[in-house]
Amino acid sequence: MPAPSAPPILDFSSFYAGDSDAKSKLIEEVRKCCHYNGFFQITGHRVAADLQRRVMECSRRFFDLPLEEKLQIDKNRNTFNRGYELLRSQMLEVGTGPELKEGLYIGEEIPEDHPYYLEKKLNSGPNQWPQTVSDKDEFQKTTMEYYHAVFELAKDVLGVLAQTLGVESTFFDPLTDGAVATMRYLHYPAQPEDTDEKLNRGIGAHTDFGCITLLLQDEVDGLQVLDAPTGQWLDVKPVPGAYVVNLGNLFMRMANDKYKSNTHRVINKSGRERYSIPFFFSGNPDYICECLPNCREEGESPKYGPITVQDMVTASYKESYGRAESYKQGMKSPKPELLPTLPTVAAASA
Ligand code: OGA
Ligand code: NI
Repeated sequence: MPAPSAPPILDFSSFYAGDSDAKSKLIEEVRKCCHYNGFFQITGHRVAADLQRRVMECSRRFFDLPLEEKLQIDKNRNTFNRGYELLRSQMLEVGTGPELKEGLYIGEEIPEDHPYYLEKKLNSGPNQWPQTVSDKDEFQKTTMEYYHAVFELAKDVLGVLAQTLGVESTFFDPLTDGAVATMRYLHYPAQPEDTDEKLNRGIGAHTDFGCITLLLQDEVDGLQVLDAPTGQWLDVKPVPGAYVVNLGNLFMRMANDKYKSNTHRVINKSGRERYSIPFFFSGNPDYICECLPNCREEGESPKYGPITVQDMVTASYKESYGRAESYKQGMKSPKPELLPTLPTVAAASA
C-alpha cells in the first residue's frame, strides 16, 4: 500500500486552456482523488486573489464585532439558515464537546416574494447582514461578489466531475440551474495549549452533506482529513489562494459510493486565530439524485433510491443540530435519527 499523503494540489487552469492533453490529465487526477477520498486542492482557478483577500478581510471585520452586535443577526431568529452562529452551537462528532467555532451563514439573496422563499426551499431567504460592521455596503458587496465567483467555480468543478464519469461537462446543468449553496464565514478562536485534544474540536469529525464543498483557508492550519486505509489524520496544509475541494454525501450517494465523501475535522492547535470560508454547493432543491452514469458494474443495481436534494440535505441538518441541542440539555447523545440511507455513518455538515 502506498504511504498515505495529503490531498494533491491540482492545477485547474487546464480546464480553461485549450491543451486537451493537460485537460485529460486533470480529469484523470480528479477521478483518482474521487475514488480515493474525495479530497483535492486546486490552484489556477478564476477566483481573483484580490477578491479572496478582500473577503477574508470582511470575515475578520465581522468577527471582531462585539458579541451583542453579532447576536443581533442570530441565525436562530429565522428558519432559513442565515445569520450568525454562536460558538459551541454545533457538535458533529459523538463523544466530543461543542465546537470551538463561530460562523456567519450567507447564501443567494432570496427576497420574501421569491418562489423558493414561499415554498420553503432549502436555506432560502434574505441574508441577515450585520448593521454595525464598518463599511457595511462594501461588506455586502464583496461578500456577494465572492459568493457568485465561487458559485461559478463550483459549476466548473462539476463540469470536470461530469467528465470524470465519461459524460459531457454540461451533464450537471439541471443540478446547477437554480442551485442552492451556502457559504460560511468561520472563525476558530485559538484553543488554549492544554486543551484536551480528544474533546475539543474546532469542528468535529464529519462528512459534508451536499454535492461539493470548496474551502478557502487562511494561512493557519488545522484541517485534517482521515486516511481511511491507515486510520491516520492527514493535514490539509493551506496553500495560498487554493481551494480545498471535497465531495459531499449527496455526490457519494449519486455515485453509488464509487466516489467518496470523506471524514474531516479541524483542531486549531496553532495558538492563533483561524479563519476559513467553506462554500457548500447543494444543488437545485428539486433535482432528483439518482445513480450517475458509469457508477455501477454490469448487472449491479443502484444502492440507493431517488431522493431530492431538498430531502437529503434537510435530513442531515436535523440530525447534527439535534445532537448539539441534546448535549446542551444535559442528555446523552441521542441515537442518530434514521436518515434516508446516508452513505456514511459519520455526522455531516453543511
Ligand atoms: C465545514 C468544514 C473546514 C474548515 O465547515 O464543513 O469542514 O477548515 N470546514 O473550516
Ligand atoms: Ni466539512
